[in-house]
Amino acid sequence: DSPESLTERPPVVTVMGHVDHGKTSLLDRIRATRVTQSEAGGITQHIGASVIEWHDRKVVFLDTPGHEAFTSMRARGAQVTDVAVLVVAANDGVMPQTVEAINHAKAANVPIVVAINKIDLPDANPDKVRTELSNYGLIAEEWGGDTIMVPVSARTGEGIDQLLEALILQADILELKANSHRPAQGTIIEAKLDKGRGPVATVLVAKGLLKVGDVFVAGSVYGRVRALINDRGQRVKSAGPSMPVEVLGFNQLPEAGDDFVILADEKQAKSIADARQERLKRQSESAGRG
Ligand code: GTP
Ligand code: NA
Ligand code: MG
Repeated sequence: DSPESLTERPPVVTVMGHVDHGKTSLLDRIRATRVTQSEAGGITQHIGASVIEWHDRKVVFLDTPGHEAFTSMRARGAQVTDVAVLVVAANDGVMPQTVEAINHAKAANVPIVVAINKIDLPDANPDKVRTELSNYGLIAEEWGGDTIMVPVSARTGEGIDQLLEALILQADILELKANSHRPAQGTIIEAKLDKGRGPVATVLVAKGLLKVGDVFVAGSVYGRVRALINDRGQRVKSAGPSMPVEVLGFNQLPEAGDDFVILADEKQAKSIADARQERLKRQSESAGRG
């Protein structure tokens, strides 16, 4: 894409951190909704996506679960991300999935903004968190380093504005741009088989414009976009760069992490998907013999 075809796009922010340190609560507070309470058991089972508008700026948030069974999903979350919010509970400090999240973000070369959460608790100790994080190369700005660390409480709302400000600042430094006048490319961030609607997947558009009627390949499956649904559950006709959107029209279930690409015609899409299916089949057969 030529420089003049590029326009500004919103930052994609992944919320990462140890289990129960408050990732979903923090997002809830930011969105002023109540996802946590509707989740049975309080464990996030998938990567949710939401678009926040703040002082006329959009920020796209992805929520990753802290449970250790979700390591590979968190690694993929880091890859589609511009900025990582590392949530560390101020009463608990750095824990195994905190370290794992730091490693994912560093491997993906993604800047980290730290949210020191639960500062409303009597045993909260933000300085202990700063000290522990310094052992992993994250030195707080107020200690002469270059990592923004914002004390917050998802419970009381304290520090949330400062956190959003820090994220917008990071995004401005990155000068995020994309061409929105080309066929879409993106990544599958979640996929599920819906009883009524069949295979449904959330696509995060990286560049281009995704439209109803577009023909696509995702991993070894293909289809034609039958409907697009935004993060608020509204039907939309198109989705541009950085936007997460639910896509209906897959012939089979894709996998989270698959690339999503628009093609000119359905025959071409089917033949690419079929060839990839065939290759996967051969690989699993030879693995079975081996
Ligand atoms: P997983 O998705 O399971 O990894 O957890 P999570 O990081 O999304 O944490 P979640 O938002 O589910 O919060 C875990 C618990 O911490 C819940 O009981 C929340 O009510 C509580 N919690 C979250 N943020 C705060 C906070 O700022 N203060 C206090 N006191 N409790 C909080
Ligand atoms: Na939880
Ligand atoms: Mg959660």
